[in-house]
Amino acid sequence: MNYLRIMKYPGSKKVLIPDIENYYKKSHKHLFVDVFGGSGSVSLNIDSKSTVYNDLNQDLVNVFLSIQKRPQNVYYLLKEGVKFRRSYVEERGQSRSSIEKETETIVREQARERGIPEKDVQSVLLIMKMSLSFGGMGNTYATRKEKASMSYISKTLDQMDEIKEKVKKWKIENMDFRELVERYDGNDVFFYFDPPYSGQDWYDINFEMEDFRDLAEIMKEMEGTFLLTIDPNFSGMEEVFGPPYEIKEYPNENGPRDGILNEPRRRAFYTNIF
Ligand SMILES: C[S@@+](CC[C@H](N)C(=O)[O-])C[C@H]1O[C@@H](n2cnc3c(N)ncnc32)[C@H](O)[C@@H]1O
Repeated sequence: MNYLRIMKYPGSKKVLIPDIENYYKKSHKHLFVDVFGGSGSVSLNIDSKSTVYNDLNQDLVNVFLSIQKRPQNVYYLLKEGVKFRRSYVEERGQSRSSIEKETETIVREQARERGIPEKDVQSVLLIMKMSLSFGGMGNTYATRKEKASMSYISKTLDQMDEIKEKVKKWKIENMDFRELVERYDGNDVFFYFDPPYSGQDWYDINFEMEDFRDLAEIMKEMEGTFLLTIDPNFSGMEEVFGPPYEIKEYPNENGPRDGILNEPRRRAFYTNIF
């Protein structure tokens, strides 16, 4: 199956999917709960009959609700936004780091003409903003990046049918992880925990040490099964969670920088499935 993705997001899980899937299969559970769902890269690619996608960030949740309820709106606005931006950039020969006012205006105009609700406009603008936000400012390198970003969004459009079919079956939640686990815990449940990275503020909503401690407590007491993946290099993690069940290395997806290969990425796995 194709690897499905909707937007660029720090911490997407492409290389980990086969391992997450193995743990899920080994658990013999039937409900997959993606507690820190983010860009949905896990929920979109895990083979499960029942999936709960959750994130505390309402803007992200809104993207998946739009796709679930009104996929035709998302497809249409994204297509129009991409078409306009392509010609805008071609005409001006310059690239920008994120979505321009002009593109936003076109998306809004198209939405108004078709009576598309503001929620769907916000969803499409977020998809575009996230997918284009790694562009630079005008030099050759940036132009290459610009092209890569635009083809990234075009691929999202190509995948929209498959994405829509997946998302259609999800239960979508917008809760804090403590509340979500309480709500869904049970003996046929598998929780996947991919919390924000310790000490980083990449997300609109980040984690404090207190949150990690709460997660560790919840993991001890829950009835269902779980898998937690974290970067073992983050300080304090082993004090909170203890020694991991295993540590795996993955090739770094960010290509070489200045000709020097990036270090492989290490991930620590914690689980109660043995
Ligand atoms: C590492 S990212 C998840 C990445 C995700 N696996 C993906 O593939 O895109 C962590 C996510 O946790 C969310 N988050 C932060 N605090 C949370 C909380 N208390 N409860 C639920 N989600 C939270 C953030 O909004 C962020 O999207």
